Amino acid sequence: MSLPARPWCAAARLTPPEAYDPLVDFELTPEQREIQALARDFVRQEVEPHAAEWDRERRFPREALARLADLGLMGVCVPEAYGGAGADFLSYVLVLEELSRGDAGLGVTVAVHTSAVTLPLVRFGSEEQRARFVPPLARGEQLGAFCLTEPEAGSDAGALRTRAEPDGDGWRITGSKQWVTNGRYAGTFLLFARTDPQTPGPGGVSAFVLDAGHVRITRDEEKLGLNSSVTSDLVVEGARVGRDRLLHEEGKGFHVAMATLDAGRIGIAAQAVGIAQAAFDVARAYAKERHAFGRAIAEFQAIQHKLADMSTEIDAARLLVYRAAMLKERGEPHTEAGAKAKLYASEMARRQTAEAIQILGGYGYTKEFPVERYYRDAKVTEIYEGTSEIQRLVIARQILGLHAPAAV
Ligand code: CAA
Repeated sequence: MSLPARPWCAAARLTPPEAYDPLVDFELTPEQREIQALARDFVRQEVEPHAAEWDRERRFPREALARLADLGLMGVCVPEAYGGAGADFLSYVLVLEELSRGDAGLGVTVAVHTSAVTLPLVRFGSEEQRARFVPPLARGEQLGAFCLTEPEAGSDAGALRTRAEPDGDGWRITGSKQWVTNGRYAGTFLLFARTDPQTPGPGGVSAFVLDAGHVRITRDEEKLGLNSSVTSDLVVEGARVGRDRLLHEEGKGFHVAMATLDAGRIGIAAQAVGIAQAAFDVARAYAKERHAFGRAIAEFQAIQHKLADMSTEIDAARLLVYRAAMLKERGEPHTEAGAKAKLYASEMARRQTAEAIQILGGYGYTKEFPVERYYRDAKVTEIYEGTSEIQRLVIARQILGLHAPAAV
Protein backbone atom coordinates (compact mmCIF):
# COMPACT_ATOMS: atom_id res chain seq x y z
CA MET A 1 0.00 0.00 0.00
CA SER A 2 1.38 3.41 -0.85
CA LEU A 3 0.55 6.67 0.84
CA PRO A 4 -1.38 9.22 -1.21
CA ALA A 5 0.82 11.89 -2.78
CA ARG A 6 1.06 15.01 -0.67
CA PRO A 7 2.20 18.09 -2.58
CA TRP A 8 3.52 19.72 0.59
CA CYS A 9 6.00 16.82 1.07
CA ALA A 10 7.61 17.56 -2.28
CA ALA A 11 7.81 21.26 -1.46
CA ALA A 12 9.53 20.48 1.85
CA ARG A 13 12.12 18.32 0.10
CA LEU A 14 12.97 21.21 -2.19
CA THR A 15 14.29 23.33 0.70
CA PRO A 16 17.94 23.90 -0.21
CA PRO A 17 20.27 22.05 2.17
CA GLU A 18 22.44 25.16 2.59
CA ALA A 19 19.55 26.72 4.52
CA TYR A 20 20.53 24.36 7.34
CA ASP A 21 24.28 25.04 7.24
CA PRO A 22 25.03 24.45 10.91
CA LEU A 23 28.25 26.55 11.26
CA VAL A 24 29.44 24.40 14.15
CA ASP A 25 32.77 25.96 14.97
CA PHE A 26 32.67 26.84 18.66
CA GLU A 27 36.29 28.03 18.99
CA LEU A 28 37.13 31.70 19.18
CA THR A 29 40.35 32.66 17.40
CA PRO A 30 43.30 33.91 19.49
CA GLU A 31 42.59 37.44 18.24
CA GLN A 32 38.91 37.24 19.23
CA ARG A 33 39.90 35.98 22.69
CA GLU A 34 42.39 38.81 23.07
CA ILE A 35 39.79 41.44 22.19
CA GLN A 36 37.25 39.81 24.50
CA ALA A 37 39.79 39.85 27.36
CA LEU A 38 40.67 43.48 26.66
CA ALA A 39 37.00 44.50 26.87
CA ARG A 40 36.42 42.34 29.96
CA ASP A 41 39.38 43.87 31.84
CA PHE A 42 38.28 47.37 30.89
CA VAL A 43 34.75 46.68 32.14
CA ARG A 44 35.94 45.21 35.46
CA GLN A 45 38.24 48.12 36.17
CA GLU A 46 36.54 51.13 34.64
CA VAL A 47 32.85 50.35 34.21
CA GLU A 48 31.54 48.05 36.94
CA PRO A 49 32.66 50.28 39.82
CA HIS A 50 30.73 53.25 38.35
CA ALA A 51 27.70 51.73 36.63
CA ALA A 52 25.29 52.13 39.57
CA GLU A 53 26.24 55.79 39.96
CA TRP A 54 25.88 56.49 36.20
CA ASP A 55 22.44 54.91 36.37
CA ARG A 56 21.36 56.81 39.49
CA GLU A 57 22.66 60.16 38.23
CA ARG A 58 21.64 59.54 34.61
CA ARG A 59 25.20 60.38 33.63
CA PHE A 60 26.62 59.92 30.14
CA PRO A 61 30.13 58.52 30.81
CA ARG A 62 32.26 60.57 28.44
CA GLU A 63 35.47 59.50 30.19
CA ALA A 64 34.69 55.81 29.62
CA LEU A 65 34.09 56.49 25.92
CA ALA A 66 37.42 58.30 25.69
CA ARG A 67 39.13 55.24 27.22
CA LEU A 68 37.30 52.96 24.77
CA ALA A 69 38.63 55.12 21.96
CA ASP A 70 42.19 54.80 23.36
CA LEU A 71 41.78 51.03 23.35
CA GLY A 72 40.58 51.02 19.73
CA LEU A 73 37.13 49.75 20.74
CA MET A 74 35.10 52.56 19.13
CA GLY A 75 35.93 51.13 15.70
CA VAL A 76 36.91 47.59 16.52
CA CYS A 77 35.54 46.00 13.31
CA VAL A 78 36.25 48.96 11.03
CA PRO A 79 39.06 48.43 8.48
CA GLU A 80 42.44 49.83 9.55
CA ALA A 81 42.54 51.90 6.35
CA TYR A 82 39.72 54.01 7.82
CA GLY A 83 41.07 54.35 11.33
CA GLY A 84 39.58 51.19 12.86
CA ALA A 85 41.17 48.20 14.58
CA GLY A 86 40.46 45.90 11.61
CA ALA A 87 38.99 43.04 13.67
CA ASP A 88 36.04 40.94 12.51
CA PHE A 89 32.34 41.36 13.28
CA LEU A 90 32.30 38.60 15.91
CA SER A 91 35.05 40.42 17.83
CA TYR A 92 32.82 43.50 17.86
CA VAL A 93 29.91 41.42 19.13
CA LEU A 94 32.13 40.05 21.92
CA VAL A 95 32.99 43.62 22.90
CA LEU A 96 29.31 44.61 23.03
CA GLU A 97 28.51 41.60 25.20
CA GLU A 98 31.27 42.49 27.68
CA LEU A 99 30.40 46.20 27.77
CA SER A 100 26.72 45.40 28.37
CA ARG A 101 27.67 43.02 31.16
CA GLY A 102 29.09 46.03 32.98
CA ASP A 103 26.76 48.75 31.77
CA ALA A 104 24.14 48.26 29.06
CA GLY A 105 23.93 52.03 28.45
CA LEU A 106 27.56 52.03 27.38
CA GLY A 107 26.75 48.95 25.27
CA VAL A 108 24.03 50.69 23.26
CA THR A 109 26.10 53.86 22.84
CA VAL A 110 28.87 51.84 21.18
CA ALA A 111 26.41 49.61 19.28
CA VAL A 112 24.56 52.47 17.59
CA HIS A 113 27.79 54.38 16.97
CA THR A 114 29.39 51.37 15.28
CA SER A 115 26.83 49.16 13.56
CA ALA A 116 24.15 51.77 12.87
CA VAL A 117 26.44 54.56 11.64
CA THR A 118 30.12 53.73 11.04
CA LEU A 119 29.60 50.37 9.31
CA PRO A 120 26.92 51.58 6.84
CA LEU A 121 29.23 54.47 5.94
CA VAL A 122 31.98 51.93 5.21
CA ARG A 123 29.61 49.71 3.24
CA PHE A 124 27.59 52.25 1.26
CA GLY A 125 29.89 55.30 1.17
CA SER A 126 31.86 56.40 -1.87
CA GLU A 127 35.63 56.36 -1.44
CA GLU A 128 35.51 60.10 -0.78
CA GLN A 129 32.78 59.70 1.86
CA ARG A 130 34.61 56.86 3.61
CA ALA A 131 37.85 58.80 3.78
CA ARG A 132 36.04 61.88 5.08
CA PHE A 133 33.43 60.55 7.52
CA VAL A 134 34.69 57.21 8.84
CA PRO A 135 38.10 57.88 10.50
CA PRO A 136 36.81 60.37 13.15
CA LEU A 137 34.09 57.86 14.06
CA ALA A 138 36.36 54.81 14.06
CA ARG A 139 38.92 56.59 16.24
CA GLY A 140 36.17 57.66 18.64
CA GLU A 141 36.78 61.37 18.08
CA GLN A 142 33.12 61.70 17.13
CA LEU A 143 29.99 59.77 18.04
CA GLY A 144 27.48 58.56 15.47
CA ALA A 145 23.66 58.71 15.64
CA PHE A 146 21.05 56.91 13.50
CA CYS A 147 17.92 58.91 12.64
CA LEU A 148 15.15 56.77 11.18
CA THR A 149 12.22 56.84 13.63
CA GLU A 150 9.76 59.72 13.69
CA PRO A 151 6.74 60.55 15.87
CA GLU A 152 4.44 58.94 13.25
CA ALA A 153 6.87 56.30 11.95
CA GLY A 154 8.20 53.70 14.41
CA SER A 155 7.69 50.04 13.48
CA ASP A 156 6.32 51.30 10.15
CA ALA A 157 9.61 52.97 9.33
CA GLY A 158 8.60 53.39 5.69
CA ALA A 159 5.97 55.95 6.74
CA LEU A 160 8.66 58.54 7.54
CA ARG A 161 7.81 62.13 6.59
CA THR A 162 11.09 64.02 6.85
CA ARG A 163 11.53 65.51 3.41
CA ALA A 164 14.55 66.36 1.31
CA GLU A 165 13.48 68.84 -1.36
CA PRO A 166 15.66 69.55 -4.39
CA ASP A 167 17.68 72.73 -3.96
CA GLY A 168 20.23 73.55 -6.65
CA ASP A 169 22.66 70.65 -6.86
CA GLY A 170 21.54 69.25 -3.50
CA TRP A 171 18.62 69.18 -1.10
CA ARG A 172 17.02 71.11 1.72
CA ILE A 173 16.03 68.76 4.56
CA THR A 174 13.14 69.40 6.96
CA GLY A 175 11.59 67.15 9.59
CA SER A 176 11.80 65.69 13.05
CA LYS A 177 13.30 62.46 14.42
CA GLN A 178 12.71 60.57 17.65
CA TRP A 179 14.52 58.06 19.91
CA VAL A 180 17.92 59.07 18.57
CA THR A 181 20.50 57.22 20.66
CA ASN A 182 23.61 59.43 21.13
CA GLY A 183 21.73 62.39 19.58
CA ARG A 184 22.88 65.09 22.01
CA TYR A 185 26.57 64.13 21.83
CA ALA A 186 26.85 62.97 18.21
CA GLY A 187 28.94 64.61 15.51
CA THR A 188 27.74 62.49 12.57
CA PHE A 189 24.09 61.61 11.86
CA LEU A 190 22.89 58.99 9.41
CA LEU A 191 19.47 60.40 8.57
CA PHE A 192 16.68 59.09 6.33
CA ALA A 193 14.47 61.49 4.39
CA ARG A 194 11.96 61.30 1.54
CA THR A 195 13.42 62.59 -1.72
CA ASP A 196 10.44 61.48 -3.81
CA PRO A 197 7.16 62.78 -2.33
CA GLN A 198 5.15 61.02 -5.09
CA THR A 199 6.19 57.57 -3.81
CA PRO A 200 4.58 56.71 -0.48
CA GLY A 201 5.96 54.05 1.88
CA PRO A 202 9.49 52.67 1.82
CA GLY A 203 10.22 53.76 -1.77
CA GLY A 204 11.42 57.30 -2.42
CA VAL A 205 13.53 57.44 0.76
CA SER A 206 17.21 58.39 0.66
CA ALA A 207 20.00 58.27 3.24
CA PHE A 208 22.05 61.35 4.15
CA VAL A 209 25.10 62.03 6.28
CA LEU A 210 24.61 65.13 8.42
CA ASP A 211 26.76 66.99 10.94
CA ALA A 212 25.74 68.30 14.35
CA GLY A 213 25.37 71.74 12.74
CA HIS A 214 22.53 70.48 10.53
CA VAL A 215 20.28 69.38 13.41
CA ARG A 216 18.84 70.87 16.59
CA ILE A 217 18.35 68.68 19.65
CA THR A 218 14.98 69.48 21.22
CA ARG A 219 14.85 67.19 24.26
CA ASP A 220 16.25 64.07 25.90
CA GLU A 221 14.04 61.20 27.05
CA GLU A 222 13.70 60.16 30.68
CA LYS A 223 13.80 56.39 30.47
CA LEU A 224 13.08 53.32 32.59
CA GLY A 225 16.65 52.12 32.13
CA LEU A 226 19.83 52.60 30.09
CA ASN A 227 20.33 55.80 32.04
CA SER A 228 23.97 56.16 31.09
CA SER A 229 22.99 56.49 27.43
CA VAL A 230 21.30 59.50 25.89
CA THR A 231 18.16 59.29 23.73
CA SER A 232 17.17 62.53 22.01
CA ASP A 233 14.51 64.10 19.84
CA LEU A 234 15.79 66.40 17.13
CA VAL A 235 14.60 68.60 14.30
CA VAL A 236 16.16 69.47 10.97
CA GLU A 237 15.06 72.92 9.90
CA GLY A 238 15.75 73.35 6.20
CA ALA A 239 19.37 72.18 6.38
CA ARG A 240 21.06 72.54 2.99
CA VAL A 241 23.16 69.56 1.90
CA GLY A 242 25.05 68.87 -1.32
CA ARG A 243 25.24 65.61 -3.29
CA ASP A 244 28.36 64.70 -1.33
CA ARG A 245 26.05 63.97 1.66
CA LEU A 246 23.82 61.47 -0.14
CA LEU A 247 24.73 57.94 0.98
CA HIS A 248 24.31 55.23 -1.69
CA GLU A 249 21.81 55.91 -4.48
CA GLU A 250 18.91 58.33 -4.39
CA GLY A 251 15.73 56.40 -3.52
CA LYS A 252 17.67 53.48 -1.98
CA GLY A 253 17.67 54.82 1.56
CA PHE A 254 15.19 52.28 2.90
CA HIS A 255 17.42 49.45 1.71
CA VAL A 256 20.35 51.09 3.51
CA ALA A 257 18.23 51.33 6.67
CA MET A 258 17.09 47.69 6.53
CA ALA A 259 20.55 46.32 5.77
CA THR A 260 21.92 48.42 8.62
CA LEU A 261 19.32 47.07 11.02
CA ASP A 262 20.07 43.49 9.91
CA ALA A 263 23.54 43.90 11.43
CA GLY A 264 22.49 46.24 14.24
CA ARG A 265 20.04 43.66 15.58
CA ILE A 266 22.90 41.20 16.12
CA GLY A 267 24.59 43.84 18.29
CA ILE A 268 21.43 44.39 20.36
CA ALA A 269 21.12 40.63 20.80
CA ALA A 270 24.71 40.59 22.12
CA GLN A 271 23.77 43.40 24.49
CA ALA A 272 20.87 41.30 25.81
CA VAL A 273 23.18 38.31 26.36
CA GLY A 274 25.62 40.52 28.28
CA ILE A 275 22.86 41.85 30.56
CA ALA A 276 21.50 38.34 31.23
CA GLN A 277 25.00 37.02 31.95
CA ALA A 278 25.55 39.79 34.49
CA ALA A 279 22.25 38.92 36.20
CA PHE A 280 23.16 35.24 36.27
CA ASP A 281 26.59 35.97 37.81
CA VAL A 282 25.00 37.92 40.68
CA ALA A 283 22.18 35.40 41.21
CA ARG A 284 24.55 32.41 41.34
CA ALA A 285 26.94 34.10 43.79
CA TYR A 286 24.02 35.18 45.98
CA ALA A 287 22.46 31.70 45.98
CA LYS A 288 25.70 30.20 47.27
CA GLU A 289 26.03 32.72 50.08
CA ARG A 290 22.48 33.34 51.23
CA HIS A 291 21.26 30.90 53.88
CA ALA A 292 17.66 29.93 54.67
CA PHE A 293 16.29 27.02 56.66
CA GLY A 294 19.83 26.24 57.79
CA ARG A 295 21.51 25.90 54.39
CA ALA A 296 22.62 27.88 51.33
CA ILE A 297 19.62 28.55 49.09
CA ALA A 298 21.66 27.08 46.18
CA GLU A 299 21.02 23.70 47.81
CA PHE A 300 17.28 23.98 47.21
CA GLN A 301 16.00 22.46 44.01
CA ALA A 302 13.70 25.44 43.36
CA ILE A 303 16.76 27.73 43.10
CA GLN A 304 18.86 25.14 41.25
CA HIS A 305 16.23 24.85 38.54
CA LYS A 306 16.08 28.61 38.10
CA LEU A 307 19.87 28.81 37.73
CA ALA A 308 19.91 25.83 35.36
CA ASP A 309 17.28 27.45 33.14
CA MET A 310 19.11 30.78 33.19
CA SER A 311 22.40 29.20 32.21
CA THR A 312 20.79 27.10 29.44
CA GLU A 313 18.89 30.01 27.91
CA ILE A 314 21.92 32.31 28.03
CA ASP A 315 23.97 29.64 26.22
CA ALA A 316 21.26 29.20 23.59
CA ALA A 317 20.98 32.95 22.99
CA ARG A 318 24.75 33.35 22.78
CA LEU A 319 25.00 30.63 20.13
CA LEU A 320 22.28 32.31 18.05
CA VAL A 321 24.15 35.61 18.32
CA TYR A 322 27.52 34.15 17.35
CA ARG A 323 25.98 32.27 14.41
CA ALA A 324 24.40 35.46 13.09
CA ALA A 325 27.69 37.33 13.55
CA MET A 326 29.61 34.64 11.66
CA LEU A 327 27.13 34.73 8.77
CA LYS A 328 27.45 38.51 8.59
CA GLU A 329 31.25 38.25 8.67
CA ARG A 330 31.20 35.70 5.83
CA GLY A 331 29.06 38.03 3.73
CA GLU A 332 26.15 35.57 3.77
CA PRO A 333 22.46 36.47 4.24
CA HIS A 334 21.84 37.15 7.92
CA THR A 335 18.44 38.88 8.04
CA GLU A 336 16.70 35.81 9.48
CA ALA A 337 19.57 34.71 11.75
CA GLY A 338 19.93 38.24 13.17
CA ALA A 339 16.19 38.61 13.79
CA LYS A 340 16.08 35.21 15.51
CA ALA A 341 19.07 36.11 17.68
CA LYS A 342 17.53 39.43 18.71
CA LEU A 343 14.08 37.98 19.32
CA TYR A 344 15.30 35.13 21.49
CA ALA A 345 18.09 36.97 23.33
CA SER A 346 15.96 39.98 24.23
CA GLU A 347 12.99 37.98 25.50
CA MET A 348 15.38 35.67 27.35
CA ALA A 349 17.11 38.66 28.99
CA ARG A 350 13.81 40.12 30.19
CA ARG A 351 12.71 36.74 31.56
CA GLN A 352 15.98 35.84 33.21
CA THR A 353 16.74 39.22 34.77
CA ALA A 354 13.31 38.88 36.42
CA GLU A 355 14.32 35.44 37.68
CA ALA A 356 17.53 36.91 39.10
CA ILE A 357 15.42 39.36 41.13
CA GLN A 358 13.31 36.42 42.31
CA ILE A 359 16.39 34.55 43.52
CA LEU A 360 17.56 37.60 45.48
CA GLY A 361 14.06 38.11 46.87
CA GLY A 362 13.52 41.49 48.55
CA TYR A 363 17.19 42.43 48.06
CA GLY A 364 16.76 42.01 44.32
CA TYR A 365 14.12 44.70 44.36
CA THR A 366 16.46 47.24 45.99
CA LYS A 367 19.29 49.39 44.69
CA GLU A 368 21.68 47.54 47.00
CA PHE A 369 22.16 44.96 44.23
CA PRO A 370 22.42 45.61 40.49
CA VAL A 371 19.79 43.11 39.33
CA GLU A 372 16.93 45.62 39.32
CA ARG A 373 19.03 47.74 36.95
CA TYR A 374 19.64 44.72 34.70
CA TYR A 375 15.87 44.10 34.61
CA ARG A 376 15.14 47.71 33.63
CA ASP A 377 17.93 47.70 31.04
CA ALA A 378 16.88 44.37 29.51
CA LYS A 379 13.34 45.49 28.71
CA VAL A 380 14.27 47.88 25.93
CA THR A 381 16.11 45.19 23.96
CA GLU A 382 12.64 43.85 23.10
CA ILE A 383 11.71 47.25 21.68
CA TYR A 384 14.50 49.11 19.91
CA GLU A 385 16.07 48.19 16.55
CA GLY A 386 12.73 46.53 15.86
CA THR A 387 10.25 45.22 18.44
CA SER A 388 9.83 41.49 19.05
CA GLU A 389 6.67 41.72 16.95
CA ILE A 390 8.70 43.10 14.02
CA GLN A 391 11.37 40.39 14.49
CA ARG A 392 8.63 37.73 14.24
CA LEU A 393 7.33 39.44 11.09
CA VAL A 394 10.83 39.47 9.55
CA ILE A 395 11.42 35.81 10.45
CA ALA A 396 8.01 34.74 9.17
CA ARG A 397 8.55 36.52 5.84
CA GLN A 398 11.91 34.79 5.48
CA ILE A 399 10.79 31.27 6.32
CA LEU A 400 7.70 31.60 4.12
CA GLY A 401 9.69 33.09 1.25
CA LEU A 402 7.66 36.32 1.29
CA HIS A 403 9.17 39.77 0.64
CA ALA A 404 12.73 38.56 0.05
CA PRO A 405 15.03 41.52 0.84
CA ALA A 406 16.39 43.29 -2.21
CA ALA A 407 20.10 42.96 -2.93
CA VAL A 408 21.75 46.25 -1.94
N1 CAA B 1 17.78 44.36 3.49
C1 CAA B 1 17.69 45.09 2.34
N2 CAA B 1 16.53 45.52 1.82
C2 CAA B 1 15.40 45.19 2.49
C3 CAA B 1 15.42 44.43 3.67
C4 CAA B 1 16.68 44.01 4.17
N3 CAA B 1 16.77 43.28 5.28
N4 CAA B 1 14.14 44.28 4.10
C5 CAA B 1 13.36 44.90 3.22
N5 CAA B 1 14.13 45.47 2.24
C6 CAA B 1 13.66 46.19 1.07
C7 CAA B 1 12.63 45.37 0.31
O1 CAA B 1 13.25 44.48 -0.59
C8 CAA B 1 11.83 46.43 -0.41
O2 CAA B 1 12.56 46.86 -1.52
P1 CAA B 1 11.81 47.17 -2.93
O3 CAA B 1 10.77 48.20 -2.62
O4 CAA B 1 12.92 47.68 -3.80
O5 CAA B 1 11.20 45.89 -3.37
C9 CAA B 1 11.82 47.58 0.61
O6 CAA B 1 12.96 47.37 1.46
C10 CAA B 1 10.57 47.63 1.44
O7 CAA B 1 10.50 46.41 2.15
P2 CAA B 1 9.14 45.88 2.75
O8 CAA B 1 8.10 45.84 1.66
O9 CAA B 1 9.44 44.61 3.46
O10 CAA B 1 8.74 47.02 3.79
P3 CAA B 1 7.59 47.01 4.86
O11 CAA B 1 7.19 48.42 5.07
O12 CAA B 1 6.55 46.01 4.57
O13 CAA B 1 8.27 46.39 6.21
C11 CAA B 1 9.67 46.44 8.12
C12 CAA B 1 9.48 46.72 6.64
C13 CAA B 1 10.44 45.12 8.25
C14 CAA B 1 8.41 46.36 8.93
C15 CAA B 1 10.52 47.65 8.54
O14 CAA B 1 9.76 48.83 8.47
C16 CAA B 1 11.13 47.50 9.90
O15 CAA B 1 12.15 46.83 10.07
N6 CAA B 1 10.51 48.17 10.90
C17 CAA B 1 11.13 48.29 12.21
C18 CAA B 1 11.92 49.56 12.27
C19 CAA B 1 13.03 49.47 13.24
O16 CAA B 1 13.64 48.44 13.46
N7 CAA B 1 13.35 50.61 13.83
C20 CAA B 1 14.46 50.69 14.72
C21 CAA B 1 14.88 52.11 14.87
S1 CAA B 1 16.59 52.30 15.09
C22 CAA B 1 16.87 52.08 16.72
O17 CAA B 1 16.09 51.61 17.47
C23 CAA B 1 18.25 52.46 17.06
C24 CAA B 1 18.49 52.74 18.49
O18 CAA B 1 18.48 53.85 18.89
C25 CAA B 1 18.86 51.63 19.37
